[in-house]
Amino acid sequence: MECPPFKIKSVEPIRLISRSERENRLKENGFNLFLLSSKDVYIDMLTDSGTSAMSNRQWAGIMLGDESYAGSVSFDHIATTVQEIMGFPYTLPVHQGRGGEHVLNNILVKPGQYVLGNMHFDTTKAHIEYAKGRAVDCVIDEAYDTEIDHPFKGNIDTNKLSELISKGPDRIAYVLITATCNNAGGQPVSMENIRDVHKIAKKHDVLLLMDAARYAENAYFIKKREPGYGNKSIRDIVKEMMSYMDGCIMSAKKDALVNIGGFIALNDKDLYSKLAPVNILMEGFPTYGGLSGRDLEAMAIGLSEGIEERYLDYRIKQVHYLGQLLDDIGIPIMKPFGGHAIYINGKKLLPHIPPENFPSLALCIESYLEGGIRGVEIGTLLAGRDPETGKNVCPKLDLMRLAIPRRVYMQEHLDYVAGVIKTVAKRSEEIQGLEFEYESPILRHFLSRFRRVDISEP
Ligand SMILES: Cc1ncc(COP(=O)(O)O)c(C=O)c1O
Repeated sequence: MECPPFKIKSVEPIRLISRSERENRLKENGFNLFLLSSKDVYIDMLTDSGTSAMSNRQWAGIMLGDESYAGSVSFDHIATTVQEIMGFPYTLPVHQGRGGEHVLNNILVKPGQYVLGNMHFDTTKAHIEYAKGRAVDCVIDEAYDTEIDHPFKGNIDTNKLSELISKGPDRIAYVLITATCNNAGGQPVSMENIRDVHKIAKKHDVLLLMDAARYAENAYFIKKREPGYGNKSIRDIVKEMMSYMDGCIMSAKKDALVNIGGFIALNDKDLYSKLAPVNILMEGFPTYGGLSGRDLEAMAIGLSEGIEERYLDYRIKQVHYLGQLLDDIGIPIMKPFGGHAIYINGKKLLPHIPPENFPSLALCIESYLEGGIRGVEIGTLLAGRDPETGKNVCPKLDLMRLAIPRRVYMQEHLDYVAGVIKTVAKRSEEIQGLEFEYESPILRHFLSRFRRVDISEP
């Protein structure tokens, strides 16, 4: 691995509590790793969201933040940066991605309408359903196979998309491309696919948006994997990606390298005018949207840093370093490696645990117990229940995600993680599944509580 393009100015101590303390923390917190105190976690790979280390320039920006309620200079900074990088003239700040989802779906989705996309992220799906719409995943079949080596597993199946849209374009609220596709293993979407989806959406006059949480990582994959893009700059690739969109929604907690923030950015003034009053109601005045001036300033600076090529090169190579370590010791993982995380196939590693007893959650629990590592389940627990039948949706992919915070951990941390996973895998046959002690009604993975269940018992 090459050297990171930065050095460290401030360090934060971490410590590994004893195994018996870890077992106690699990029991006290209903085997839900979201409920743990971070002081009891050694290596935190729960998420790459809001966990980035900010740069000295961003911290300097924090001091420059303009805290005016209306017309903040820091808003101008983020709005001009969005326009310069992505090309959209209208920006509405929001406190984070789901704040934007709330505002957007409130206006765009009428009861019974569909939102079509590659694979909707959980908060996205929940907000579409909250607005009484239906979120439909149209990702290519290859995305559901962790072994197939396809360079753009986040692509939309354009036949499926065309078929669904042509049944009734007015039943479609909008089309959303999530780049990269978090729930499909951080897999990218190709420029060719973005262009094709654009053509289909335009043919039927349907709005096309991007969930741009990890758009810069997506652009990096296009540069590395798509013919014709190797000599283009990330900036040019981003410009082209966004030129096919009517707008985007972004959780800036990922590729804009901030701990909080987000925005909706649009081409169309009329749509902006419909969203802005709702934004005032739910998030805040259109020049701050639930953020302080200093947050806006850090977000503007982070947006520019997030598309620097040397940074992206280091970032993706670091994620792939962990992927390679796990692959070399025979752990079944999603391939090719994605942009922000490595995904372990829980179903395959723990075939004795049925999906309803959450094999990937069990793997997360054991990894914490073994070495204080906190990962997250992306499988049956996250998928929730079918709103019509009330039954568990058992997705084809049942994974443990090890997300890598940006600019936070070093190679030694990743070596340690691989060692812990290796030990857990050696005793995989003894690992027990889980069942609900309490099932939370919305986004159940966050607040539910579990107990261990012995699968071998009749
Ligand atoms: C693809 C995607 N969209 C939306 C969100 C929601 O963003 P936030 O956590 O800022 O609300 C996330 C969060 O992880 C995400 O990964």
